[in-house]
Amino acid sequence: MDIRRLTDRLGGLAFGGDYSPEQWDAEVWKQDDELMRHARVNLATVGVFSWALMEPEEGRYDFGWLDGHLDRLHAAGVAVDLATPTAGPPPWFSLAHPDALPVGPDGTRLTHGSRDTYCVAAPAYRRAARRIADALAERYGDHPALALWHVHNEYVSLCHCDHAAAAFRVWLRARHGSLDALNEAWGTAFWSQRYTSWEQILPPRQSQWHRNPGQALDYSRFWSDEALAAYREQRDAIRAHSDRPVTTNLMLPRYQNLDLWAFGREVDLVSVNHYPTGPGVEAAAHAAFDADRARSLAGGAPWLLMESGTNTVYAGDRVLPKEPGDILRNSLAHVARGSEGALFFQWRQSRAGAEQWHSSMVPHAGPDSRMFREVTALGEHLARLGELAGSTVRAEVAVLHDSDAWWAMQVDGLPSGELEYYPALRRAHRALWDAGLTVDFAHPEHDLSRYRVVLAPALFLLTDAGAENLRRYVADGGTLLLQHFGAAVDEHLHARLGGYPAAPLREALGIRVEEYRPLAQGEELALSDGSTGSSWSESLRTEGAEAVAAYTHGMLTGSPALTRHTFGSGHGWYLSTRLDDAGYATLVGRLLTEAGVTPDLPGLPAGVEAVTRHAPDGRSWHLLLNHSAEAVPLPQPAHDLLTGATLSRVPAGGCAVLRAL
Ligand code: GLA
Repeated sequence: MDIRRLTDRLGGLAFGGDYSPEQWDAEVWKQDDELMRHARVNLATVGVFSWALMEPEEGRYDFGWLDGHLDRLHAAGVAVDLATPTAGPPPWFSLAHPDALPVGPDGTRLTHGSRDTYCVAAPAYRRAARRIADALAERYGDHPALALWHVHNEYVSLCHCDHAAAAFRVWLRARHGSLDALNEAWGTAFWSQRYTSWEQILPPRQSQWHRNPGQALDYSRFWSDEALAAYREQRDAIRAHSDRPVTTNLMLPRYQNLDLWAFGREVDLVSVNHYPTGPGVEAAAHAAFDADRARSLAGGAPWLLMESGTNTVYAGDRVLPKEPGDILRNSLAHVARGSEGALFFQWRQSRAGAEQWHSSMVPHAGPDSRMFREVTALGEHLARLGELAGSTVRAEVAVLHDSDAWWAMQVDGLPSGELEYYPALRRAHRALWDAGLTVDFAHPEHDLSRYRVVLAPALFLLTDAGAENLRRYVADGGTLLLQHFGAAVDEHLHARLGGYPAAPLREALGIRVEEYRPLAQGEELALSDGSTGSSWSESLRTEGAEAVAAYTHGMLTGSPALTRHTFGSGHGWYLSTRLDDAGYATLVGRLLTEAGVTPDLPGLPAGVEAVTRHAPDGRSWHLLLNHSAEAVPLPQPAHDLLTGATLSRVPAGGCAVLRAL
């Protein structure tokens, strides 16, 4: 989709959030119109959890109330991102279709009373979801307020019910073709698990001990495909009536039930939700991570931050507030990386209900509040950044990201409980972010030729095609770092025989791993270069590579821990343990130096982030975010779009957007 259609319609970057007028009365609606105008809100997401109002009883739709709100918003100059309400089936639905309630791996069927109480594979749910999407699109497909369609909300819930089992079998037949192929792929010769009819196959429900890893991995793949099919049904029902772009808001979580690459290909516009899990610099690094992922899922095209919290940091068992200034810096962290605006959950803080304490643009205290003043200031700032619309971001380095590898690291029976995908991904991104770089994510089978350095953390599963792609990337001049336990299995989770990792990579890395040697919890191994390894070690030998650091302890004394191989015109690095933070930063720094990678704006002090957006016509902008408590001088005074003034320094905790010369 041409993203300019959205930003042209909005007259610049998007600003606003989820809006639930059904929770309020006419007096508040009137105030909403005024406050939205005051804060320069130009996009409101309506209807996300409004199924019970839109369809008060099965098959009877009532859109009268929604007509009024769409017309009102249009009159107030606010465009609408209209949601299908299918993440919140009403109680009547669950009572009429109890078989559509989700079932956990232990067989427990959930009840209604919260949200997301549906099984995406249940035929009754799918029919009802398609029908309401169709009815909404028929009625509002051409509404002048409508700018964007928002299918569902965060496809995420898992189910293990009999409907899911039936759909899983259909999926398995298509994937494997025959039971013999399935038995071979799942290694059912082990533990007498051979299947002799499709009907015997179940989702990976709770069992006596380790569940079959191939079954678990295929179930994850199946579930993502099922959710995607549900999305496509709604999208196609909408497209039959409307030419406005369609999205679904992806959550970029620490756990994962979706192949985000696949969703990225099916939406007209990638939109994501982001909620930081720690304050301060952690929040900034997390925002950069999610925003870089969102842009990568969009194939580098502009995307949209669909939800964030004005005053919400999820920190374990509590929700921390944001400090003054954070809302601008956090929002610009996304805009810097290609978001076409900043939207929030939600416009007005609910008086009642399960998320009554969730922060909002208009808090319980009302507009006379620090939060609403900051929201208004953010609206003003974003309004000044309209010229950035449609510009994109470039990266010279990438981190590999693959759902199959992630799911593979969640199966039962792995040799260490410290083999975790998400933390490894975060760490790799963080090392590059700390080095001042903008980072892309890429799939191991993508064309990687535009990247000078590629990090491959936790890439436990790698297909033959992926291994060949990475071999070629190195041969053609790339610098690749494969990390421990990497490329150990193929797409069926079958171990690579004859030494790890997969053969084409062994060639590029010039090594052969003979034995994985997990470490005890807390155990640390000193390496010969002064760094420390923990969690994992490997017995490997070089086959052409140089040993950059060696183990200095026990059986592995003198054996390579970190290797570097010149292969073709590139370099293949292998790291066989989990390095301490400083050691990892040093290693990544060496890779970047050798590959000649430098930040867009070199020389910035730690805690100051700079990202550049480029327009197709050659204009570009530097977005500077100062996360530190000190003002930072600019190399030379420059015109700042945010303030409209000439700046010589970026204030502590502040931001600047400079036209590049
Ligand atoms: C998600 C949901 C919203 C809301 C927020 C709260 O992103 O999409 O409905 O629950 O979380 O953080």
